Amino acid sequence: MVKMKVKAGIKKGIINKNIYGHFAEHLGRCIYEGIWVGKESTIPNINGIRKDVIDALKEMKIPILRWPGGCFADNYHWMEGIGPYEERPSMINTNWGGVTENNHFGTHEFLEFCELIGAEPYISGNLGSGTVREMQQWVEYIASDGDSPMTKLRKKNGREKPWNLKYFAVGNENWGCGGQMRPEYYADEYRRYATYLKDYGDNKLYKIACGANADDYQWTEVLMQNAGKYMDGLSLHYYTMPLDWSLPKGSAVDFNEKEWFDVLKMTLFMEELIEKNIKIMDKYDKDKRIGLIVDEWGAWYQVEPGTNPSFLYQQNTLRDALIAGINLNIFNNNCDRIQMANIAQMINVLQSVILTDEHKMILTPTYHVFKMFSVHQGSELLETELEETYYHYGDDKIAQLSASSSMDSEGKIHISLCNLDPNNEVEINCELVDANTGKISASILTSKEMNARNTFEEPEAVTVKTFTNVELKNNQLYTCIPPKSVVLLTIE
Ligand code: AHR
Repeated sequence: MVKMKVKAGIKKGIINKNIYGHFAEHLGRCIYEGIWVGKESTIPNINGIRKDVIDALKEMKIPILRWPGGCFADNYHWMEGIGPYEERPSMINTNWGGVTENNHFGTHEFLEFCELIGAEPYISGNLGSGTVREMQQWVEYIASDGDSPMTKLRKKNGREKPWNLKYFAVGNENWGCGGQMRPEYYADEYRRYATYLKDYGDNKLYKIACGANADDYQWTEVLMQNAGKYMDGLSLHYYTMPLDWSLPKGSAVDFNEKEWFDVLKMTLFMEELIEKNIKIMDKYDKDKRIGLIVDEWGAWYQVEPGTNPSFLYQQNTLRDALIAGINLNIFNNNCDRIQMANIAQMINVLQSVILTDEHKMILTPTYHVFKMFSVHQGSELLETELEETYYHYGDDKIAQLSASSSMDSEGKIHISLCNLDPNNEVEINCELVDANTGKISASILTSKEMNARNTFEEPEAVTVKTFTNVELKNNQLYTCIPPKSVVLLTIE
């Protein structure tokens, strides 16, 4: 029996709802087909945006959406994506398959989409190939209520009032596709571009600097030292895949237990990355003013056989549900520094919550985890103690359990648990310290097969079920979590 304690009296900060954020890039079938089908489409849409997708995202409670990239962002010239469609020039999407981008989904469409799904917009600006002026004008076009050529242009294009735009990134992966820069050079460039990104009226920007590629701690160090003063957030990108990008990636659906173990072990590496990055940030920013923004994370496998290798389309299984649960628990537990995280990517690319096939749409196991865990959004993190227990594979081992707990504004306690072991259940006795407990309810996402997934033929193969193997007596909670499962407990 594994011992656990959740201390209702020890609150460790608000879990920013934006930890449950998403990312949509002009890549493969994410924007076109996944979101945008055009006004003339036979797929039901609101002003060209898929209605089924809007409904599903609202239901999942998506708080924030990052756009337009990714690598695409530092190639994107926003003025090509405004005005009448027939006048928008095309471009070649050089990062993702050399396909033609017709620029039909641009600033207005993105911001309307955010309004429709109730998410805050998060825009990545072009530092790699764009000018300071271009970036400055983009913010002015969106957020200014003044009288200027940019605001006149916005009005001419049909939007009278400015939008609210808080989150703005000054480039993406500028150590790689965003310009192959050295950290010292980028830090200076960041300072220059950020200087011209202004607050208009009540619209206050939260400026995010490009952070490290996974374990490149030197990048974090230099950015914090040279540009920390000028930023509100610093990003971090880490995908569940080998750190050496040249190593082969596994299949999303066709894997054995060794690959299950290896992938979850790579996922848990996020904990070390966060810890080490926070340590560096703490050195320069003791008050934790600057947020750590994990604006790309998730599993990256081989593409589905027969699909365009540049489109990064992959299926999503129960293993990905565990990956989501583990990462979200890590982010919750570090909510004093992590202010946002964005899984890559929302639809039809990498670890998606939604897959589409023409008129059809399915929700992945990852979607269900986001929906289950949405109760943590804006809640207060509670101190949680968990006795160590391991999942062994061969001579190696990893933690068997991942957990985080929070208290929401109504005083309900939510505990999210993942059992990483695909073979063994785990009995837990959790003491709810200083809690007023009455009743407990629970839900579970699991399946017999490690690679269980939803398909267009069987869209409900993996869904959330009520979980009854829980008992609550005198603040002592007893449960037995099945192998390879994600569980959410709610105590009120
Ligand atoms: O999400 C796919 C790509 O991964 C993004 O465009 C880039 O930022 C990262 O390398």
